[in-house]
Amino acid sequence: MADILLVGASRGLGLAMASEFVKRGWNVTGTVRSGDRTELHELADKHPDRIEIESLDITVPDQITALRKRLAGRSFDVLFVNAGIADANPNEPAGRVSTDAFIRVMVTNALSPMHVIEGLQGLVTADGLIGVMSSGQGSLGNNIRGGNNVYRAARRP
Ligand SMILES: NC(=O)c1ccc[n+]([C@@H]2O[C@H](COP(=O)([O-])OP(=O)(O)OC[C@H]3O[C@@H](n4cnc5c(N)ncnc54)[C@H](OP(=O)(O)O)[C@@H]3O)[C@@H](O)[C@H]2O)c1
Repeated sequence: MADILLVGASRGLGLAMASEFVKRGWNVTGTVRSGDRTELHELADKHPDRIEIESLDITVPDQITALRKRLAGRSFDVLFVNAGIADANPNEPAGRVSTDAFIRVMVTNALSPMHVIEGLQGLVTADGLIGVMSSGQGSLGNNIRGGNNVYRAARRP
């Protein structure tokens, strides 16, 4: 039996990964951002012995530190950072993106995953794996349609 710490598992691809890992016999500790009930909670209700739910906003360093303390003594075979956001206005030309919008996507998608790895890598076994979600949209060569400018820059593979 193997254990994964899956960051950003409330919905979307993170939720799908949680479901798939459980199907394959793994124990999943998945994080959600708020105290609200999420689709991960629905999945955990079906697999109470296999899914644990923790809370983490990856853009808040104190929350990373707190999660590390809560998980002290645990070890994971995989730490995977799935959490990420898209550009609010995907068709906005790069030169018109506001500083706030730029910072929001860059901090969430580029800087915060590095903070998570720095803060939580000690929970991963010596022969374990650490991964961060990327995107084909980060490819320079494949960018033939434009748009999603900050997202593309923050999701370079
Ligand atoms: N969809 C695609 O086609 C695609 C393709 C390639 C790569 N990706 C990447 O795959 C990842 C998931 O994409 P998705 O389509 O499944 O997105 P999604 O449905 O919007 O889900 C995003 C997930 O990230 C979490 N999240 C966002 N900001 C966070 C923060 N500050 N702290 C903690 N969690 C946060 C969300 O939590 P909340 O529920 O709290 O918002 C949610 O669980 C993203 O990193 C995205 O860049 C997506």
